[in-house]
Amino acid sequence: MTEMAKQRMIQLSKELHEHNYRYYVLSQPTISDYDFDMLLKELQRLEEIHPEWASVNSPTKRVGGTVTKDFNTVKHTYPMLSLSNSYSKEELVDFETRLRKLTTTEPEYTCELKYDGVAIGLTYKNGELVQALTRGDGEKGDDITENVRTIKSVPLKLKGNFPSEFEIRGEVFLPRKAFEKINEEKKNAGEALFSNPRNTASGTLKMQDSNVVAKRGLDCFMYAVMGEYLPFDTHFENLQAAGHWGFKVPPVDKKFICKTETIDGILDFIQFWNSARENLPFDVDGVVVKVNQISIQKQLGSTAKSPRWAIAYKFQTERACTKLLSVTYQVGRTGAVTPVANLEPVSLLETTVKRASLHNADQIEKLDVREGDFVYVEKGGEIIPKIVGVDVAQRAAHAPVLKFIQHCPECHSLLVRGEGEAQHYCPNELGCPPQIKGKLYHFISRKAMNIDGLGEETIDLLYKENLVHSIPDIYELQYSQIIRLDRMAEKSAKNLLKGVQDSKLVPFERVLFALGIRHVGETVAKKLVAHFKNINAIAAATLEELMQVDEIGDKIAESVRAYFSNAKNREEIEKLQLAGLQFTAVEKVIEGSTGLLEGQSIVVSGVFKNFSRDSIKLEIEKHGGKNISSISAKTSFVLAGENMGPEKLKKAEKLGVKVITEDDFVQLIAGAKELSNKGQTDLFAQ
Ligand code: IVH
Repeated sequence: MTEMAKQRMIQLSKELHEHNYRYYVLSQPTISDYDFDMLLKELQRLEEIHPEWASVNSPTKRVGGTVTKDFNTVKHTYPMLSLSNSYSKEELVDFETRLRKLTTTEPEYTCELKYDGVAIGLTYKNGELVQALTRGDGEKGDDITENVRTIKSVPLKLKGNFPSEFEIRGEVFLPRKAFEKINEEKKNAGEALFSNPRNTASGTLKMQDSNVVAKRGLDCFMYAVMGEYLPFDTHFENLQAAGHWGFKVPPVDKKFICKTETIDGILDFIQFWNSARENLPFDVDGVVVKVNQISIQKQLGSTAKSPRWAIAYKFQTERACTKLLSVTYQVGRTGAVTPVANLEPVSLLETTVKRASLHNADQIEKLDVREGDFVYVEKGGEIIPKIVGVDVAQRAAHAPVLKFIQHCPECHSLLVRGEGEAQHYCPNELGCPPQIKGKLYHFISRKAMNIDGLGEETIDLLYKENLVHSIPDIYELQYSQIIRLDRMAEKSAKNLLKGVQDSKLVPFERVLFALGIRHVGETVAKKLVAHFKNINAIAAATLEELMQVDEIGDKIAESVRAYFSNAKNREEIEKLQLAGLQFTAVEKVIEGSTGLLEGQSIVVSGVFKNFSRDSIKLEIEKHGGKNISSISAKTSFVLAGENMGPEKLKKAEKLGVKVITEDDFVQLIAGAKELSNKGQTDLFAQ
């Protein structure tokens, strides 16, 4: 039996690695997501029973689960060099002519995209990923293996005819869509946004919780194979071979890579991608030209910083120069203060740019930008253009250094800098107008309470007329008060009041999200509600209790504690409770529920013939039973599949807890359905 389980685990692991490769590397899946999940769940179940057979490179490791406090620093086998950059056609022509003079055999070149991400070096031994290192200082890098295991396009086990030991280098990046999704979530949670996909990828690789890394959607293109025994003596052929071992390498048919012997071939590749790169789903910042023959690479060698046989050509980004008229400061709903550059309007990539983000005080200091300066604006991966430099030659004499404001531009409170952050905040949460209005905008927004008939303009009006200064005020609005407002007709007034009334039915998780607690976005709100069930339990939870919830770390837990420690917030919630909003989780009603297992606490153990572990648990819930994880005197019965652990069996016997088989259970619920129709539910009365 156990041998069968072991064989099944090997088989499942193999199949899942292959499906993963087809989905994430080839983009040609051959099974549905559902079927994939079923296979993965089966393997997870078997690994729970036989953890001794679960490999560190099992497909189940893709979801993460480890927490690393400090990343180990490890010396690179081969130093991780960088590339020398070029910015013009002339520089490339010079590079190519120089190489031709230095070599005895005709050099051949590869042209590749220069992915805008983070360099990694992966070591494989006997076809298994054993180590993933960051570039670090080029000599030593950080061991980020656990996080890299969650990147789906990085193979954990290789296939085909691979060298027994080698290193492969590549670039980890965040596709634009994944970046936008993360920022959307950050925005919802009232957090400072990431500035671009590259920084986000870099920050993500160094996150402590690999579970979070797994969800971010990182991807990876490989660009160099290194080792003592490689199958080919050219870079291109080795890279394509790596594609057959399971790596994501640049596809030739999509022109991500080409081979050429001429400077014209190189320039054509650059010209093509200079415009085509806009349509790629990820950022590239240039092209890399490499000598293809490894023998020539060895002959040319490297300087301390970069190889002589390769060069990067950096694309010119569309850049405009304009005058910085003034810097103003915006206060968001969480009090975050963002400096905004007001510019003399300038045309950039067919749009007129009037404003650019300056991000934070550190950025202002780094750029040493001053009012009246001529500045360079660029559009990167971000939607909002950014200032990338200053033309100091055009600076007026004695232009004063720009100092970040110390007081809130709206309510004049002294600003504070977030701990460990570059962001400044106005602490006057409950008295600062843009924070109050921002919170109200968030509360009524589509993903939060979605109050029909109430938009941001009406909030502005209600705020101005002193009718709404806090969330509970919305629920006290009277028809007579709002009908008097500017441009408010009878129909819209009634509509607004109906929208407010209807919002009292919005489920608790959305109400919790709508409250606008810093770092509590939609997902966190759902997790808190599922765990604590009602607002009182969340309000009373200690830091430790909050951190026991899946995905909730100290930052979120502290923010939740801070929110509920504030008496004014508690007062607001009380008012909202009185107004009739939902502050309790609604128990899920499962279709086909019979209530037959009502009041029964059931422990599921082992492997089943007709059910996966999840589906049998769902079946229990469907009939009103409760799934519990460990056997106690209170357990109603144990539902035992094959391979139930002997310890559990002993414990059940000792406590006199009944153990039933899968067949008993099937008969039970088959009978139960009939019984329930007859209205008999006391199935366990003896
Ligand atoms: S080859 C020894 N190829 O660009 C040469 N690098 O300074 C190693 N990069 O951070 C680099 N795309 O991670 C190479 N197709 C590509 C690349 C690439 C992006 C990055 C690399 C490094 C930087 C070079």
